Amino acid sequence: MTRERTAFPAGFVWGTATAAYQIEGAVDADGRGPSIWDTFCRVPGAVAGGESGEHACDHYHRWQEDVELMDRLGAGAYRFSLAWPRIMPDGDGQVNQRGLDFYRRLADTLREHLIEPYVTLYHWDLPQALEDRGGWRDRDTAERFADYAEVAHEALGDTVSRWITLNEPYCSSIVGYAEGRHAPGAREGHGALAAAHHLLLGHGLATARLRARSRPGQQVGITLNMSPTVPASGSAADADAARRKDLLVNRQFTDPLLLGAYAADMAETFGAISDFSFRREGDLEIIGAPLDFLGVNYYYRIHAAAAPYEQADPALRSAFDLGVRSVTPDGAQTSGLGWPMEPQGLHQTLLGLTRRYPALPPIFITENGYGDDGTLDDTGRIGFLRDHLAAIRAAMADGVDVRGYFCWSLLDNFEWARGYAARFGLVHVDYETQTRTEKASFHWLREFIAKQGEDPGT
Ligand code: FCB
Repeated sequence: MTRERTAFPAGFVWGTATAAYQIEGAVDADGRGPSIWDTFCRVPGAVAGGESGEHACDHYHRWQEDVELMDRLGAGAYRFSLAWPRIMPDGDGQVNQRGLDFYRRLADTLREHLIEPYVTLYHWDLPQALEDRGGWRDRDTAERFADYAEVAHEALGDTVSRWITLNEPYCSSIVGYAEGRHAPGAREGHGALAAAHHLLLGHGLATARLRARSRPGQQVGITLNMSPTVPASGSAADADAARRKDLLVNRQFTDPLLLGAYAADMAETFGAISDFSFRREGDLEIIGAPLDFLGVNYYYRIHAAAAPYEQADPALRSAFDLGVRSVTPDGAQTSGLGWPMEPQGLHQTLLGLTRRYPALPPIFITENGYGDDGTLDDTGRIGFLRDHLAAIRAAMADGVDVRGYFCWSLLDNFEWARGYAARFGLVHVDYETQTRTEKASFHWLREFIAKQGEDPGT
């Protein structure tokens, strides 16, 4: 490959990403209220090993050390999330200044290190008090989210100019309210579709509030997890299974956001589960307001096969039977967690977005990473990063406007229902001592960033 195809343009943003509940710990510190994840972690069998984010990486107390790590990496940006229950312990009403102070210290210190804060307002830790009133099934939660966004912006808007409303509304709605694998652990069809709609509405309402108080240079976007779906075979049945899965995972979110319309096949595909009575006139205008950027998280492609009820993906079928089974293609290379490694899926995603959405804003890859058991000599992760960065660069050469890349994750951390066994960090964390140790991939990425994308080799 020539240099033009491998090197990244000047100004391309390099960073790492984390999320509050996965790293902060200190769940009772300084007036933080409980979130749905605190509750869910106490449900027997919900999280591997009965673990929780109670201590996690103790980032709440060790954040300075973590900023130093980012500095050593040469990162120019850091994507982290604010814990809504630190800022508004009951989800609405009372504002907890001590929670805001923590993020103020963090953001200001990042700036001192010339690291641009990219703040996610919601990375899955809904205040439990709001879940008790219906959570995302309830339209009111979207309004409360917009209020919270305004409070956060009011307090931090002078130091934070990059705002991401939601992380992966697919996971918050379908994995949390239909599959029950994530908090709040519900298994509902209609409720999950309502949650998806209200998350999108919350995004739209929050975006309008942030824009109304816009400061120079401010940008607002949303992060979606995109998994292109490919039919497991050439059969028409598998092609239709892939369409249904694509609708559930991708188009359910991208079409309203980027076209201001629900996909035409929503009614046909989910009509037996829901009458969509949660939709109101005017919602799509709010949801479809222009974005400054789209955050794309990419981990893997989905290979979809049509399946009768008994063989369909079990987590999903209890809430609604999509008639789909996800399969791992024969001979596929997989990550330490068994996820298929298909960097071409990232290229496919980026090109697909460009083709489908004329109003597509610039893209940031807001997450991409590799999970394993935590080995320090993590050549698997280096190979993963190298191949996915090459796929991004190739998509850029094909005309896709990608502005930055955030590796998931800076640190090993609490990997949701998988607990602490799955490790995604560039930096190893010994949870007993909280010692941080840079892995081989940290050094590799540091070199890669320093050379603006010229592969340093192994
Ligand atoms: C994404 C989540 C992130 C992390 C990675 C591995 O879906 O946004 O918090 O768990 O997966």
